[in-house]
Amino acid sequence: MTLLIQDEYPKKLLREDGLRLDGRGLTDLRPIKMEVDVIKNADGSAYIEWGNNKIFASVYGPREVHPHHLAKPDRGILRVFYRMATYSVFERKRPAPGRREKEISLVISECLEPVLFLELYPGTSFEIFIEVIDADGGTRCASTTVAALALADAGIPMRSLVSSCAVGKVDGQLITDLSGIEDKAGDSDMPVAMTWFNDEISLLQFDGKMNQEEMDKSLDMAKDALENVYQMQLEALKKKYIQIQEGI
Ligand code: CDP
Repeated sequence: MTLLIQDEYPKKLLREDGLRLDGRGLTDLRPIKMEVDVIKNADGSAYIEWGNNKIFASVYGPREVHPHHLAKPDRGILRVFYRMATYSVFERKRPAPGRREKEISLVISECLEPVLFLELYPGTSFEIFIEVIDADGGTRCASTTVAALALADAGIPMRSLVSSCAVGKVDGQLITDLSGIEDKAGDSDMPVAMTWFNDEISLLQFDGKMNQEEMDKSLDMAKDALENVYQMQLEALKKKYIQIQEGI
């Protein structure tokens, strides 16, 4: 359960034995499960459980743009709608999309766009609907990861997948994959995403304080974590085709 009241945050986020409150080592990811083709009415879809986060992504497109005035004559457009269910967090979230959801939709869109060939689809749109059912820190990273999987599941040509994970600092120690409580009560939080066709970082946000050395080490930790996330994405995609092949 995520605590929202500042006074209730634990004073220390690392235990006496050096492990984190949920028993992880400093660079351990939370347990992650991914599955594609989970929403039959979508062109492509995927589901991710990342720690306590539970997130669906569905993709539609290329299709006609509504409203029409958003259409671009020389290229397709990508629209991302990240939404958190009212019941996905400890304190009821207002149902209308807030500033945070709009910002996260935008950053996810910007980090996925480089892998798409939008120039080949003038006048059309690709839409990704991301529904966070349960949230516990790092939802923008898990959403980016699951959205990339849903795009691939839709059979949309892509330069590569995109993987995302946060790194940060708690109690003066650098850690990988912040949980909700670590995100809120920790010293810093840095969500990172990587596009694999060019090994470039397509998302880097930062909240808190770090010196240059910590920043460099965090990026190295992020790259290790992203490599693991990428392998899990590939496995989830392969699993679908193995099941088709075996007639499951
Ligand atoms: O989810 P992410 O870390 O990408 O974004 P955030 O804005 O840093 O939010 C961190 C966490 O705060 C979320 O994952 C939720 O668990 C929690 N949160 C919340 O409890 N209530 C909200 N209205 C928004 C976020």
